Amino acid sequence: MPAISASAPGKIILFGEHAVVYGYPAIAVPVSQVQARAIVKANPLGPPGKVHLEAPNVSLSADLEDLPPEDPLGKAVRLVLEELDIERPPALNLRVTSTIPLAAGLGSGAAVSVALIRALAEFLGRPLEDERVSALAYEVEVIHHGTPSGIDNTVITYARPVYYRRDQPIETFPIRQPFRLVIADSGLPSPTAETVAHVRRSRAADPQRYALIFESVGEIVQAARKAIEGGETEALGPLMDQNHELLGEMGVSSPSLDRLVAAARQAGALGAKLSGGGRGGNIIALVDDDRSQAVAETLEQAGAARTFTSLVGNQTTP
Ligand code: PMV
Repeated sequence: MPAISASAPGKIILFGEHAVVYGYPAIAVPVSQVQARAIVKANPLGPPGKVHLEAPNVSLSADLEDLPPEDPLGKAVRLVLEELDIERPPALNLRVTSTIPLAAGLGSGAAVSVALIRALAEFLGRPLEDERVSALAYEVEVIHHGTPSGIDNTVITYARPVYYRRDQPIETFPIRQPFRLVIADSGLPSPTAETVAHVRRSRAADPQRYALIFESVGEIVQAARKAIEGGETEALGPLMDQNHELLGEMGVSSPSLDRLVAAARQAGALGAKLSGGGRGGNIIALVDDDRSQAVAETLEQAGAARTFTSLVGNQTTP
C-alpha cells in the first residue's frame, strides 16, 4: 500500500471572532504559507489494529490504544475509524507535522485534524467529502475550544475565504481585489477556551451590553464583506480598527496586543486588530505593498515574536 499524505493550511479570522460563537457572522481566510501535513504508511510487520502516531511538534510518539480519549490526534483517528465503521484497521504509522505556530490563532489544531482525517480516510480507501472532514474536525475542536463556533474547521477544510455563520450552510465569496496583511505573532500563547469562557461569563453578567457589542461586530462583518467583494480594500482598515476596539470592550485584548496594534498603525498600516481568541496570539495589519516591510519591522521592534505577510486573494499566496 503506498503512503498517503494530505495537507491543510493555517487560517486567519479577519472579522467577527467571539461574536461568531453566538450566531453572528465572521469572515476567515486560509493562510497557505503555513501548513499541517499528515502521512500514513502501512506497517507490514505490525499486528492488525496497531496504529502508531508520531507528532514531533508536540513530542508525541505513541500507540493509539495508549492515548487518552481527550488526546486530539487520538480522537481524530478514532472518529475516522468510527465514521468508516472500521474496528481493526491494517497496522499503520501516522506522522503529523506542522509549520503553524501552536495556540497562536492560526488554526493549528484544526489544520492538523483536517490533514490527518483526510490522509487516514484516503489510506483506508474511503476518502471523505469535505463536509464530513469538516464535521469530524469540529468534534476534535471541542477538545481545544470547549464550544467552538466551527469557523476554523470550515475555512481550513475548504481552503477558501468564508463568510461563516454558525449552523448555516457555508458561504465562500470572491475577493475582488487581493490585499496584503502583515500577521504578527505576539509570542504569547493564548488558549482560546479561556477567552471564550471569559466572554461567556461576562455576557451572562451583562447580556444587554454584550448584545450591543455583538450587533456592532455583525455590522462591521457585513460592511467588510461588501468592501471585499466590491474591491474597496481601503474601507477595510477603519473596519479593522473598529473591530479591535469592540474586542477590547469584550475584554479579550491585552496591553501587549494593543501595543502591537498601535505600532502597526503608527508605521503606516491602514488598520489593525487582534485576530482569533485574543489576549495573546496574533494581530493582523492591513498594509499597502510598499509599507509591508516597514510595518513588519516596526512590529518586531515593538515585541512581536515573528511576522509574515500574506496576500489575501482567492488563492492565498505569500
Ligand atoms: O483562536 P482561534 O483563531 O482558533 O479563533 C477562535 C475564534 C473564536 O471566535 C474566539 C472562537 C470560535 O470558536 O469561533
